[in-house]
Amino acid sequence: MLQIIDRQTGVLRAARDLTPDIRLFEIEPAAGFVPPPPGSHLDVSVRIGERPDTRSYSIVGACGDRVYRIAVKRLPHSRGGSAYMWSLAAGARVSFTGPHDTFPLGTGRPEYLLVAGGIGITPIFTMAMALARTGARMRLVYAARRTCDFAFADELREALGERLSLVTSETGGRVDLAAEIATLAPGGELYVCGPIGMLEAAKRAWQANGRPPENLRFETFGSSGRFPTVPFTVKVPRLGLEIAVPENRSLLESLEEAGVAMISDCRKGECGLCALPILQVEGTVDHRDVFFSDVEKASDAKLCTCVSRVAGGSITIDTADRTG
Ligand code: FES
Repeated sequence: MLQIIDRQTGVLRAARDLTPDIRLFEIEPAAGFVPPPPGSHLDVSVRIGERPDTRSYSIVGACGDRVYRIAVKRLPHSRGGSAYMWSLAAGARVSFTGPHDTFPLGTGRPEYLLVAGGIGITPIFTMAMALARTGARMRLVYAARRTCDFAFADELREALGERLSLVTSETGGRVDLAAEIATLAPGGELYVCGPIGMLEAAKRAWQANGRPPENLRFETFGSSGRFPTVPFTVKVPRLGLEIAVPENRSLLESLEEAGVAMISDCRKGECGLCALPILQVEGTVDHRDVFFSDVEKASDAKLCTCVSRVAGGSITIDTADRTG
């Protein structure tokens, strides 16, 4: 089991841009170093305005030099974490916990199919390099909008050769998940990290191919939806509350700031702990979680408040199952 060093500090040794909007941060821990397995994260303390908060970032690479590396995409509608990280210069102190092994890579599988979209490459890159080192049978499909958006492309080309497919949507490319899954060896595993649409498409294609659910592993970054990120209003009649949710704040954060007792864990739309019942909605719920099924999302009975939003308008929710 992975040993986790509790809250500790490190120094930002260097930061460099990998793409126009992805920056790599090298963090040298002040105290102990725990080698992170592929798929591990650091939970980094950030400041959102005056408020302390935490953001989870995948650790990039094997960290053989005992330095943790994370890659952070600067998002125009960031809830503030990426803007904070991008404000840091070499020499800054960084507080974090981890590594947390939340997206573990299985061993000894007959074949591995890795699929990454955008910044989802961060855990997938580390997995790909680890598998390449062991000589495992694997391939990686990596999608981005433009050629300049591919991070780690040179390292991946060198390590994977023909086993790497780069797909750019700007030139009309798309990932044919059904075809990729169809050629995966029986017993093979699929690892996906990317926007919510990619994860849902992967789940559907995996199921359609009759593959065992436990052989599909995925992770999301909880920031992408089907609609643009815009402000909306949330009403909680039971508590007599009406709260404005700005575009840079999640519904969960807004409820917490208003004093609503919330339960949460992953804050990435994966565990379902933060879900609340929807009483009414004016507008469209943009379900951004991977916890609810397509049918549950279509029913609009509940939403994961940590990532899901309303695409303009307002939503009325209940907190009954949080106050009892
Ligand atoms: S806290 Fe896990 S889904 Fe929201």
